[in-house]
Amino acid sequence: MSSELLNGLLEGLYAAQQGLRALLHLVGSAPDLHGQPAWPLGYRIAAEMLVVDAGHARRVLLSLLCAGVAVLAMGLSLPWRRARIPLWAAAIAVLVLAPWPQAHLLLTPAVPTSLHQSPTGFEATGIVRGQAVYRQHCVRCHGTDGRGEGAEAAQLAQWPPNLNGALLWKRLDGELFWRVREGMHNRVGVQTMPGVGNALRDQEIWEVLDYLQAHAAGQMLRESGTWDRPVRLPGMAVHCRSGRPQQSRDLLGQRVRVAVAGPGVPPLADDPRLVTLVAGPPASDADVECWPDGGAEAVNQTLALVLGVPVAELPGYQLIVDRAGWLRARGQPGKTAWSEDDLVCRSGTVLTAPADASVEKRSAAQGDGLEALIRRMDAEPVRLLRGGFPH
Ligand code: HEC
Repeated sequence: MSSELLNGLLEGLYAAQQGLRALLHLVGSAPDLHGQPAWPLGYRIAAEMLVVDAGHARRVLLSLLCAGVAVLAMGLSLPWRRARIPLWAAAIAVLVLAPWPQAHLLLTPAVPTSLHQSPTGFEATGIVRGQAVYRQHCVRCHGTDGRGEGAEAAQLAQWPPNLNGALLWKRLDGELFWRVREGMHNRVGVQTMPGVGNALRDQEIWEVLDYLQAHAAGQMLRESGTWDRPVRLPGMAVHCRSGRPQQSRDLLGQRVRVAVAGPGVPPLADDPRLVTLVAGPPASDADVECWPDGGAEAVNQTLALVLGVPVAELPGYQLIVDRAGWLRARGQPGKTAWSEDDLVCRSGTVLTAPADASVEKRSAAQGDGLEALIRRMDAEPVRLLRGGFPH
């Protein structure tokens, strides 16, 4: 199955599931819980299985098509009375012959917050607060580096997992929230992780999850030199020379270059291809395009987390963010020219995007690697799947 088809299927199922929740909410069967409608059913669609098992995904898609054909045939039989019997026979035949997927692959146990989405916006200030929560409530088991080697880890019924790999990306936001809040148990009912529901507010739990994600991103980059899972530009208030203060999410739709200023770091000239956002020590006389509007400290700490470097080593780093808000390329201090190799978050799918004529022309004229990098970034969009669902 092509990746576009699979993405379409995942998005369709996701929308259907969210739609069902909205409907149940409307009729009063999905009460509000932690600020969003609860998922009142014991199971949800196991989107993660569709991602890993192509045969299963094909069966699901074909079955949906068959169900659609059957519904159509039955619908047609209403006005078209004379053909009623053959239409019903066709509908039944299609339903019988459909390659129905196995229920245990299609569905997985759900919790009331399975479909909840994090309300934080991956904000830098929240991530920093999440770091403080982590140090106070989680570090004793999960360890300062998140690898699961905290002081108390050895005495637990089960060793805590390494939170720095792909684990967090495999889970739904709302299910991580539930596990941290309510705690976890093993198959025989022994508690493996205590819940923090009594000690922490909902907001703090969402924030500690954001912190874990930012930290895991940095560790991934340190260890493998790539972000093999998409990481968002942390949210922050920004002020741009050209206008009123805004949020970094208002820059969605434009490419952004984040550069960290500092002593000895030459200032960057504006570039018409991207919005330049300069973090680091407050720019004094430098005439920069955009800068964090307050919370500079938190922005620096968050950038250090996602890059996996200490704050002191930040000056000179650059990041390129694509139009959808994903961090895609990293430039290390001292870098003078970009190249496609700086693309540290790549996608498996290469869209054959029509070459942008103006980009081609400028590329030839300027001959800088940034042009090639931008072209690749635009032609190979990445998308975030968490637990198989688009986020
Ligand atoms: C008493 C030790 C302990 C404390 C404190 C603790 N954890 Fe855990 N945590 C564990 C263990 C053990 C597991 C593995 C449990 C399992 O798989 O059954 C785990 C699993 C997890 C997971 C993985 C869940 C998954 O879906 O597989 C996350 C995320 C997590 N913890 C986050 C946190 C956060 C955030 C805090 C602090 C608010 C925290 N933990 C506090 C011991 C702890």
